[in-house]
Amino acid sequence: MSDDTVLFEITEKHLNTGLRRFPVGRVRTSRVDPAQGVSYVGYPIADLATLDPEAAIFLLYNKRLPTDEELQSCKAELASRATVDPRVIDVLRTLPKDGHPMEWLINGLTLLGMTGKTGDFYEDGLNLIARSAELIANIYRIRSGWGEPIASDPSKGLVENFVHMLGVPGADQAKLTKLLRTFYVLHMDHGGGNLSTFTGKAVASGHADQFASLAAAMAGLYGPLHGRANQECLNFVKTVGTTDPDEIEKFVRETLSGGGKIFGFGHAVLRAEDPRATVQYALGKDICPDDPLFKTALAMRERAVKVLKENPKISNPYPNVDAVSGTLLNASGLTNSDYYTLLFGFARIAGITAQVVDERVHMRNGRGVPIYRCSYIAENQDPKRLG
Ligand code: MLT
Repeated sequence: MSDDTVLFEITEKHLNTGLRRFPVGRVRTSRVDPAQGVSYVGYPIADLATLDPEAAIFLLYNKRLPTDEELQSCKAELASRATVDPRVIDVLRTLPKDGHPMEWLINGLTLLGMTGKTGDFYEDGLNLIARSAELIANIYRIRSGWGEPIASDPSKGLVENFVHMLGVPGADQAKLTKLLRTFYVLHMDHGGGNLSTFTGKAVASGHADQFASLAAAMAGLYGPLHGRANQECLNFVKTVGTTDPDEIEKFVRETLSGGGKIFGFGHAVLRAEDPRATVQYALGKDICPDDPLFKTALAMRERAVKVLKENPKISNPYPNVDAVSGTLLNASGLTNSDYYTLLFGFARIAGITAQVVDERVHMRNGRGVPIYRCSYIAENQDPKRLG
């Protein structure tokens, strides 16, 4: 493709559409295909779902899967970077508990930056991934009032140590670890143009450091139309209140005719069932087949799609990544949905930091993408003379 190839013709009707479908740049970590869903560096997400989270991190950073030896050294390297300055945890203890966990995360990321940034995008990216496990586990524990922090043991592995530090009361650790390893890999990256990733890269383009860029990205993820949708989804599944498919279909019809929304279905780019949902439905059949909310979510997969398909205006009637993730977390002991976006953020930090490194360090033969500066057309301005 030559530099002059026309990719997209911009007309007046494309303005004020949230940059929807505008090609902005190249992305090296992942691609979202409307029919196939996301792939990381060419590997379909379903094929990666049981991968070690550290192998998936290596993939996003190095654009290839690690050998066994490289995986071991990647794990050791992340473990060696995992130390969080105790002042970060001290400040967490002072944060208002009525703040949302994502507000705590946004604060926590800037605290990690204040106490440990190097200013190098690559170094800080890996440090941030490694340190976010302890930060997020302690946001969870301190805000939930579960007690004092549990000492970190990074030699366990990133997600294994996270589950250990969470110390979820009454949870089956093995089951939770299995779920969160998969949840982490599934949520790491979703192309270059989703709101949080785009925001993180835009902020980094002004040469703010990784920590500040990721705090901004997480503010994007906090929105209920983006990452916080997973929290709303569990609450929605709870309101269905039945596992009976016919009653569920009735509930969906009544919700829609009352102007309500069916949470967990549809996506800005996808036009088929999100493979990240497909993986989670299969995982649910393994870890919580008899859980009533999971049964509801399974029946919704069939009946909600059936009803939504009847409306030709709905371009994607299929389940997305959030349709069932909350029910699996709930069945595994993480019952407070307020924290679900935090878990999404934990994973997404890996993808966004990798994309920031690509844009800052690798793109344009190492010169990096310039500071983001798009154009807005003022009322009465001649669009041919963009400022
Ligand atoms: C997702 O993971 O589905 C997203 O980040 C939302 C999107 O792709 O816009």
